[in-house]
Amino acid sequence: MTESDRWRVPAQQNIGGQFSPPGDKSLAHRAVILSSLANGTSIIRNFLMAKDCLHTKAALQALGVLITHCPEDPSTLKVQGQGLYGLCPPATELALGNSGTGLRLLAGILAGQKFDSCLNGDASLQQRPMERIITPLTRMGAQLLGTSQGTAPLWIKGKQPLKGIHYRLPVPSAQVKSSLLLAGLYAKGRMVIESPIATRDHTERLLQYFGYPLLQQPGKITLEGGHALHPCEIEVPNDPSSAAFFIVAACIQAQGQLLIKNVTLNPRRIGFIEILKLMGANIKLLPSQNMQVEPVGDIEVVASPLTGIDIPQTYVADAIDEFPALFIAGACAAGTTQLRGAQELRFKESDRLELMGTALQKLGIKLEIWKDGLKIQGQSTWQGGEVDSGHDHRVAMALVVASVRATAPIIVQHTACIATSFPDFLSCAKQLGLTIELD
Ligand code: S3P
Repeated sequence: MTESDRWRVPAQQNIGGQFSPPGDKSLAHRAVILSSLANGTSIIRNFLMAKDCLHTKAALQALGVLITHCPEDPSTLKVQGQGLYGLCPPATELALGNSGTGLRLLAGILAGQKFDSCLNGDASLQQRPMERIITPLTRMGAQLLGTSQGTAPLWIKGKQPLKGIHYRLPVPSAQVKSSLLLAGLYAKGRMVIESPIATRDHTERLLQYFGYPLLQQPGKITLEGGHALHPCEIEVPNDPSSAAFFIVAACIQAQGQLLIKNVTLNPRRIGFIEILKLMGANIKLLPSQNMQVEPVGDIEVVASPLTGIDIPQTYVADAIDEFPALFIAGACAAGTTQLRGAQELRFKESDRLELMGTALQKLGIKLEIWKDGLKIQGQSTWQGGEVDSGHDHRVAMALVVASVRATAPIIVQHTACIATSFPDFLSCAKQLGLTIELD
């Protein structure tokens, strides 16, 4: 553990003011992928310069796509798309680091190529389930081989003709849906994907923005392969998932308010705001007029007392990445907060039920860890102490903001992982008045 990999966060601070979170991670992955497959040059503004998206960018460069950063503003990318059939065989395996989105989405594309490839990731990504893409891609005619546990590395054999299939997603996963949609670009015949539970629809929106025909019906997407993607200019809105940590901090602090600028207000991404409102949070969405690919706007938060709730299971998919932050809100809400039906949290960058549950218990919070959720007994403050993020970026950021209600400093171990999604977290925190000391 390096020096800066361990942060000490003094107790009971207040935050306030306004800030712009970094560019949206899910959208940045998709924007650079689709730009690479378009027939010509696309421009992406506000690309997320965080490790996850930079891994996806590097993988596409290794597949022969010319991608440059604008010298005056490195977060503006110029991507010379190669068309659907213009990618080149990579010289080595493609390393996606911590990024499940990068790996699963690229697997869909690589399944349709004329060359072999191998996708790999870091220790955390190598633990995550890949059967969920291997099974349907294999049904399409692809040849993919993972480890005997169904994990990465993933070897993909080229020159396999793909056919469209009708597939009902067994788990609500935008990554699986997107992997299949991208493989569908290379398939003969019709691809129909049924999602009984709606998940983020960024791939569908962006495909259409790139001019790709697609039929969206309630719970069902249909597309056919072989059409062209037209290059475009995209402005990536800011990431509500990164904003979530400061939104929770602003809700649970004694007083104050916060304005978050220019985030995607896609309903499939802001389930956590609905949940916080059910708990009594004072949050206002301020939609702006200019919708390019996504609904966008500001979010205003005013501190207010929260009450524990049974989180409706219908919100789970729409808040899937924000539960580490929501558990902090639950820990200081009056009464009990219960979450059920969220077993997917065990398959994220870490087992987030186990890791968050254990860390909160270490801070003196009473809770039960269930196989598919948590039951948290709220209390107005908790003790400080040393807690471990388990190298999970969202767990690390949630534990940092837990300090707002702590009576003594919280030391968070393994914070370097925050660079996965929010490399400027420290300076944003500072701008909002939250002191974090490098221990
Ligand atoms: C994502 C989908 C979700 C989410 C992840 C990003 C995406 O994963 O948790 O952080 O960009 O498609 P699942 O598809 O595994 O639910």
